[in-house]
Amino acid sequence: MNDFDYLGKNEVYLDSACQSLRPRPVIKALNEYYEKHNSCGERVKYEWGEITDKKVEATRKKILKYLKLKDREYFVSFTLNTTYGLNLVLSQLDVKKLGIKKVVTSDIEHNSPFLSTMAFAETHKIKREVIPRAVSGEMPEDYNYKNAVVVVNSVCNFDGRRLENIKALTKLVHKQKGILIIDAAQGLAHDKDLLEKTDADVICFSAHKMYAPSLGGIIMKRKLLPFVKTTFVGGGMVDDVLENKYFLSAESKEHAYTKFEAGLQAWGEIIALGSAIDWLEKRTKADHERLNKLSQKLFDALKSHEKIHVINEVARPTISFYVDKKEIGFDSHTLGAALADQGIMARTGYFCVHYYLDHVKHYPPLVRFSLGYHTREEDVNKVIKALKNL
Ligand SMILES: Cc1ncc(COP(=O)(O)O)c(C=O)c1O
Repeated sequence: MNDFDYLGKNEVYLDSACQSLRPRPVIKALNEYYEKHNSCGERVKYEWGEITDKKVEATRKKILKYLKLKDREYFVSFTLNTTYGLNLVLSQLDVKKLGIKKVVTSDIEHNSPFLSTMAFAETHKIKREVIPRAVSGEMPEDYNYKNAVVVVNSVCNFDGRRLENIKALTKLVHKQKGILIIDAAQGLAHDKDLLEKTDADVICFSAHKMYAPSLGGIIMKRKLLPFVKTTFVGGGMVDDVLENKYFLSAESKEHAYTKFEAGLQAWGEIIALGSAIDWLEKRTKADHERLNKLSQKLFDALKSHEKIHVINEVARPTISFYVDKKEIGFDSHTLGAALADQGIMARTGYFCVHYYLDHVKHYPPLVRFSLGYHTREEDVNKVIKALKNL
């Protein structure tokens, strides 16, 4: 794909689940900010600042449009990444006012929700329940979510399994007076269909996993605002300040996003995220099919190899597997290093899912291949050939 023309012929990048490669228009948008209107947003009156403000505002709108969400129901704040977003929300939720009695997460979660839910439970002295996710990715529908904060991913970061029953789960959690927080770190690049027109209460995401620069976002239901006690505060959040009192701007509808935006923001990155969404919106059915076809080809090749133990149930753009040192004399880390020697960039280890992969499944360290729209047929062929030779 031309938008990744900087990628060398022998460079096979298979680490999109960590950070996608950035297409040319996104890099251009970021450079344009630095070269043409490098300015602080929401504070300055000169022309550069006005351009920045317009583009930042446009990005907030684009995110909601991308997910077919209504501006009158949701607002978007920017932050560092998914982890920061989850922590900002969880650490400020007014548990008493919401009547929250427990926090629920699933066993396949990334440390980001896994640890932040632990801290949340400890802080509020409430129960934390870790429930097994189906291999198909679904959350149980016969579970007691009463008065629970439920924090789960929409797409898993080691095998790409999807929370297919997200709609039913949302209804169930709400019916039982709970709150649903979605970790959408892996969910907005190739699987945003799951979150379109969602009724989830909060969605935290990482722009760097959706073809945009390093940045995070929180999409929150406006009606949750009175249940967030603001304790992480600073510049850009207030309308007025007295000696011992401040007045938050988030009280007004247009400035709800300031609730989580303490201090100066990453204006260029926010603007470039807008460009990444434009770019994602232009991906055609053929682009999706090509990505799926390449994922299937790689999955089939891995499955056919008797010394390769694939974790995925089905082909997804993110595929993990392990090799057994006892069987072949070397482990996944050594395999990863050997692949790296041939220009194949993959990840090895537990990908911040220590609990499930190590302590529930007792897998040895894994190798993860995560494909993206930049992936070429030659890349997949090269990987298949390299694995055969190794
Ligand atoms: C499913 C999932 N959740 C959360 C995270 C944390 O994202 P970040 O490191 O951008 O905060 C990741 C990162 O890989 C992830 O894959």
